[in-house]
Amino acid sequence: MLSSRAFAHPARQCLRKTAPLQSSQRWIPALSQARSYATADKDKVAKFKGTKGSDGKYCVTLIEGDGIGPEISQSVKDIFAAAGAPVKWESVDVTPQLKDGRTVIPDEAIASVTRNYVALKGPLATPVGKGHVSLNLTLRRTFNLFANVRPCKSIAGYKTPYDNVDTVLIRENTEGEYSGIEHVVVDGVVQSIKLITKDASERVLKFAFQYAQDVGRTKVRAVHKATIMKMSDGLFLSTARNVSKLFPNIEFDAELLDNTCLKMVTDPVPYNDKVLVMPNLYGDILSDMCAGLIGGLGLTPSGNIGDECSIFEAVHGSAPDIAGKGLANPTALLLSSIMMLQHMGLFEHAERIQTAIFKVLAEGKTITGDLGGKAKTHEYAEAVIKAL
Ligand SMILES: NC(=O)c1ccc[n+]([C@@H]2O[C@H](COP(=O)([O-])OP(=O)(O)OC[C@H]3O[C@@H](n4cnc5c(N)ncnc54)[C@H](O)[C@@H]3O)[C@@H](O)[C@H]2O)c1
Repeated sequence: MLSSRAFAHPARQCLRKTAPLQSSQRWIPALSQARSYATADKDKVAKFKGTKGSDGKYCVTLIEGDGIGPEISQSVKDIFAAAGAPVKWESVDVTPQLKDGRTVIPDEAIASVTRNYVALKGPLATPVGKGHVSLNLTLRRTFNLFANVRPCKSIAGYKTPYDNVDTVLIRENTEGEYSGIEHVVVDGVVQSIKLITKDASERVLKFAFQYAQDVGRTKVRAVHKATIMKMSDGLFLSTARNVSKLFPNIEFDAELLDNTCLKMVTDPVPYNDKVLVMPNLYGDILSDMCAGLIGGLGLTPSGNIGDECSIFEAVHGSAPDIAGKGLANPTALLLSSIMMLQHMGLFEHAERIQTAIFKVLAEGKTITGDLGGKAKTHEYAEAVIKAL
């Protein structure tokens, strides 16, 4: 859940820099096109399986979402069209349905993501304390999206306490404390099961090492509390040690979660050469902490990676307070779409759009209210198009 502080007017924070953007300031790691894998390409976890249609374009499922979702999705569509990205959108409705007493996503939406192997998703509102279960969770379960990838890189022009944050965190997305296995033992005593399996740990750990190779990072660090949870986190850690042997060119080590938090907020720079990988709850909390280091969730993209399909999404919510007013900042969804292009192997288009976004942000002339500017959503998108 996002606190309104994350989007509070950052008048004190927002110092503009006008220097041109250096490649080192690019935020999402550019994937090397000449990649070398310790594992053969065919053995890659979560390799994108989509193919271009006869029109030379990939079909991508678009879940526009609620609240500001349609407005920020429109910006992505406009910018992709202007950049000539070989993508055609297939919009689907994910309004939940009840089937045999369970909340499910409409069959057409499932069929679309399954067919296209990839989706871009706007925020979905979740009713509090009643109504349907979280659709975000339902999507993760439906498509077995086992890894959540959260890069956080400082943005030139948006001043925060640290200038050089460049963290990449990968969170196990399917089990741990979020397995949903809870029960009352006796009145006043509730038990919640933290489920850790070797299979799910191995899968996310392999993905983390592979991701490190893809983005040119030389170190993978597992974050854990195996000192206390000797069996569950112990299994995650021993699996990590075993998986690391498959990737001899990547340095592996491990760190206790509390230590990671302390060190990261003291000085995040030593984490810039690493990919951090961890069980579900730790990843949920630590990834938002990293987002805080670069200015909040409004600037933070994410990718939910599955073996078959992957769904990329902004991590902020549907912002009902500003919906329909043209005030929304589409940057987080745009950056998520850049991650999606990279996942699809469309590196040149990703790089071109990303460079334009950061140019506009660094200039600071046409930015939305949450970043201290006055631009409307569509004006910001037009500025990005002009900068392409
Ligand atoms: N991934 C998701 O789909 C997701 C994530 C979080 C919350 N939600 C849902 O969104 C709804 C609203 O949640 P919330 O109010 O706690 O969080 P929120 O992120 O929607 O809003 C928090 C504050 O940030 C602002 N904000 C959010 N995104 C912005 C953007 N792109 N540009 C400018 N300002 C922006 C809002 O105006 C609001 O002041 C809830 O139903 C919640 O369940 C969905």
